Amino acid sequence: MTKITFVQPDGARIETEGQPGSTVMETAIMNGVPGIVAECGGACTCATCHVYVDAAWTDTVGGPSMMEEDMLDFAFDVKAASRLSCQIKVKDELDGLVVHVPGRQG
Ligand code: FES
Repeated sequence: MTKITFVQPDGARIETEGQPGSTVMETAIMNGVPGIVAECGGACTCATCHVYVDAAWTDTVGGPSMMEEDMLDFAFDVKAASRLSCQIKVKDELDGLVVHVPGRQG
């Protein structure tokens, strides 16, 4: 299992265990993390699973694909660390990952 922490806009931390092969979005939904809506169910067509990858993890997680980047145009308050969490695959290297949930979703 891969530990993933979701930090809420008020600073509250929700610690979860992600299943390798699933996605960060699926981990959030399975654990009832507030603020991750995931309307499209992971098809990269809604941008309501937007997160900010913690600065310590941006290199390891990497950047968005072109398709994801196009979809991020529909998210609110996009920053350099923005990713769609349905496009981040859970894997062993991400054990300890921290992502920040935005104040609102598109
Ligand atoms: Fe819709 Fe990620 S769940 S883009």
